[in-house]
Amino acid sequence: MWKGRFQKETSSLLTQYGESISFDWRLYKYDIAGSIAHATALERAGIITQEECKKITEGLRDIGTDIEQGSFEFDMNLEDIHMNIESALTDRIGDAGAKLHTARSRNDQVALDVRLYCKDSLNDIQENLRDMQRALVQCCKRFPDSVIPGYTHLQRGQPVLFSHHLLAYVEMFERDALRLKDSIQRIDVMPLGSGALAGSTIALDREFIAEQLGFTEISQNSMDAVSDRDFVAEVLFCLALTGTHLSRLSEDVILWASAEFGFISLSDEHTTGSSLMPQKKNPDIAELTRGKTGRLYGNLMSILTLIKGLPMTYNRDLQEDKEPLFDSIDTIQNALVIFSEMIDGMSINEGQALEACSDPMLFATDIADYLVKKGVPFREAHNIVGQLTAHAIESRTPFPKIEIQQYKEFSENFEESVFDLFDVKSALTARTAAGAPSPKNVSKQVSKWENKLSGE
Ligand code: ARG
Repeated sequence: MWKGRFQKETSSLLTQYGESISFDWRLYKYDIAGSIAHATALERAGIITQEECKKITEGLRDIGTDIEQGSFEFDMNLEDIHMNIESALTDRIGDAGAKLHTARSRNDQVALDVRLYCKDSLNDIQENLRDMQRALVQCCKRFPDSVIPGYTHLQRGQPVLFSHHLLAYVEMFERDALRLKDSIQRIDVMPLGSGALAGSTIALDREFIAEQLGFTEISQNSMDAVSDRDFVAEVLFCLALTGTHLSRLSEDVILWASAEFGFISLSDEHTTGSSLMPQKKNPDIAELTRGKTGRLYGNLMSILTLIKGLPMTYNRDLQEDKEPLFDSIDTIQNALVIFSEMIDGMSINEGQALEACSDPMLFATDIADYLVKKGVPFREAHNIVGQLTAHAIESRTPFPKIEIQQYKEFSENFEESVFDLFDVKSALTARTAAGAPSPKNVSKQVSKWENKLSGE
C-alpha cells in the first residue's frame, strides 16, 4: 500500500514480525461497518458517486459474508485486517475500492474498530455478569435456610446465612456491571475523521458518520483520538477487578469443597478426578479461574506500560494493545459462563455447615451484646466475655454448659435468659439492621435481586 516511495520489498522477517492479521481479523465486522459509514460520508461530500458508494458497500458486505463463512483468504503480507479488507475490495470492484481510503488513515480506522469492538463486548459481558448473578440468586433460593460460619482472618467469627454470603458476590458483580456501563461512556466517542493525526483537508460530516455507527459523541482532538488507549486500560482494569471477585469466590468454593470444611458439594460435571488418587474430586473450575486472574492483571500491566512512554501521536507500539484486550475479554467471558454453570450444580451440605456453626464460641459477641442491652458499656462487656471465654477454654465447658451461678461471677447482669442466645436461628433472627443477615432481611434481598435481574 506504500510501494510508491520504496524501491525494495519489505524483509520477510519484518512482515512476520509486524503482522497483526493473525489476531486483529476479529475486528472485521467493525472494520466493514466503519468503512460503509465512511463511504456513505464520502458520497455525501461528493468525493465518490452514488454508484461507487453502492459498489463499495456491496463489496464490503460480500467480504463480510466470506469472512464469516471462513472462505476469505487472509494474507499476512497485507499486515492487518484493514489492509486485507481494502485490498480484497479493490480486487473485487476495481477503482471504486481504491477511493475508499480517502480522508482516512489506519490510525483513525483502528481506533474506531477497537472502540466498536469494546462497546459490543462490554455489553455482552454485562449480560454474562447478570447470568452469574442469576445463578447465585437461584442458589440462594435452593438453600434459603442454610447457615454457615462467617469468617474474619479465616477464623470462625459469627454464623451467617449461606445466602448472605452468596449475595455479597451478587453485590460485587453488580458494581462490576455498573463499572462497565460507565466506561462505555468514554468508549462511545467516534474518532474517524482524525486521519493520521491532523484530520484531512477533505472534511466529512463526522456527526453523520457517528450517527450511522451508533456513537453518541465525536472526538474533539485529532491527535488525542488516534493515540488514546485510555479506554483499553480502563476496560482491562474493570475486567481485572471482575477477575479479582471471581478469584475470591473461587477461593471460597475451594475451601468449602475441601474435606476440612465440607460445606458444599460440586457436581460431577464441574469437577475432575485424579489419575492417581481414586478418591479425589477436584474443584478445577475454581482453581483455573483463580489462576487466570494472573493473566488479567498481566494484561492490565501490559497496556499501562505500553502507553506510558509514547510520544504523541500514533506509534506502532499501539498495535500491541489488541492481544491483551482480546485475551481479557475472552478470559472473563469464559470464566463467567462456566462459573454460572458450576454454581447451578452446587449444593450445600446443610448438616456439616450447621455443625460448624454450633461452635458456641460463635456466640461470644452476642453475649457481649446481651450485657450491653442490660446497660453494661460495650468495652466492659467485651472484657467480661473475654474472661468468660478464657474460663470456658480452661475448664473445657462450652458456654451453654456453664452454670448460671458461674455466669453471675463474671457479671451480676447475667440471667437465665442468657441461654436463649445459644441457638443459631435465633442469633440470626436478632440481626435485623439493614444489611445484616436476619432471615427476613436476606429473603427480602433475594427477592429484590430476583426482580431486578428478571427485569433486565
Ligand atoms: N495494525 C495497526 C494497529 O493495530 C493499524 C494501524 C497502523 N498504522 C500505521 N501507521 N502503521 O495499530
